[in-house]
Amino acid sequence: MEGPRRILFVCLGNICRSPLAEGVMKARLAASGVDPVEIESAGTGGWHVGAPPDPRAIAAAARRGVDLSALRARQVRRSDFDRFGLILAMDRSNLVNLSRLAPPGCAARIAMITDFAGAGGPDEIDDPYYGGPDGFEATLDTVERCCGALVEAIR
Ligand code: 4NP
Repeated sequence: MEGPRRILFVCLGNICRSPLAEGVMKARLAASGVDPVEIESAGTGGWHVGAPPDPRAIAAAARRGVDLSALRARQVRRSDFDRFGLILAMDRSNLVNLSRLAPPGCAARIAMITDFAGAGGPDEIDDPYYGGPDGFEATLDTVERCCGALVEAIR
């Protein structure tokens, strides 16, 4: 099966969960030797456009060797539905919002990142923004699990 050549990760603010997924996925792909896949992330909301990821996300990723510091938040745009073959939501509300934003007949596959979590895995990634640092570790655990499986699905 030919995998998608462009994947977009989507959360609400694009400063916590989806930048973590972008950073982890880029690192996993680089280490995997599979053909290049373009990876980006975006938010359905526009409050943080232009901002770097949340400092807690940057710190948690750095502890695992992933550098998020150069990322900047952007909002989902209509052209994303043409550019990306696979658009992955972090939680169910992101999925509902994406379905509303998608132009009729768009070819992109819109799904949950946790579709790749495997049996017994979580079915969404909760927003860690209003919680403590532990939430970011839990988010990263799930993101790593899903991205590992996603790389294998592409391979
Ligand atoms: P994210 O987390 O969707 O994982 O980037 C959030 C960041 C900011 C807000 C909500 C969620 N906010 O309401 O500002």
